[in-house]
Amino acid sequence: MERRVIITGVPGVGKTTVIDGALKRLELEGIRYHPINFGTFMFEMASREGIVSDRDQMRRLERPVQKELQRRAAELISRIEGNVIVDTHCSIKTPKGYLPGLPDWVIDGIRPDTLILVETDEDQILGRRLKDPTRVRDMEGSGAIWEHQQFNRSISAAIATRTGCTVKILKNQDHLLEQAIEEMTSALR
Ligand code: AP5
Repeated sequence: MERRVIITGVPGVGKTTVIDGALKRLELEGIRYHPINFGTFMFEMASREGIVSDRDQMRRLERPVQKELQRRAAELISRIEGNVIVDTHCSIKTPKGYLPGLPDWVIDGIRPDTLILVETDEDQILGRRLKDPTRVRDMEGSGAIWEHQQFNRSISAAIATRTGCTVKILKNQDHLLEQAIEEMTSALR
């Protein structure tokens, strides 16, 4: 049976790191997923059209532009067959408030069986963001990161209620990356 899985978590929580580790283990077992980074899909479209020059500019675009890029990315993903894993966001923090990353027109394209929410303590996320010189992160305190993680839990519950997908909350704590990768691998088997 084909699996369609969404992985979300606030920026810097380490979702891409955990997914990459899990996919390598699954490949050794002969289990393959088509990994999709939703932000990369959007960024490639936006940079081809000269709208942005780095991925951190996307969350500051006008809402209708972000929604149009999002809609087109979801349309492309809906055509992909086989096991699919989509690395994305329940919500994006924009200057005008939280933009839903998984509104109906995105969820209807992805059709998830499972939604995995990657979380850890806010101060660890803050530390990881500060250590990453390759990105232009919005500076925020641990209280704001806590609020964002709580908001994402509420969105996940709403998506599960609408679609019937399961929701798994997975911790990716400092010094325990191996444990997070193992838990992700089990969830994707
Ligand atoms: P996206 O590509 O998802 O970027 P992001 O949110 O900034 O996430 P990152 O990839 O930077 O963080 P990550 O959580 O994957 O962490 P990483 O593994 O790198 O999205 C880009 C943009 O696209 C969004 O801002 C938005 O504009 C747009 N977008 C995306 N989806 C959208 C949607 N559905 N609708 C509308 N717009 C959308 O790890 C971070 C660091 O932590 C690394 O240094 C790593 O080594 C370290 N680390 C990881 N795990 C551990 C650990 N256990 N212990 C210690 N360090 C760790």
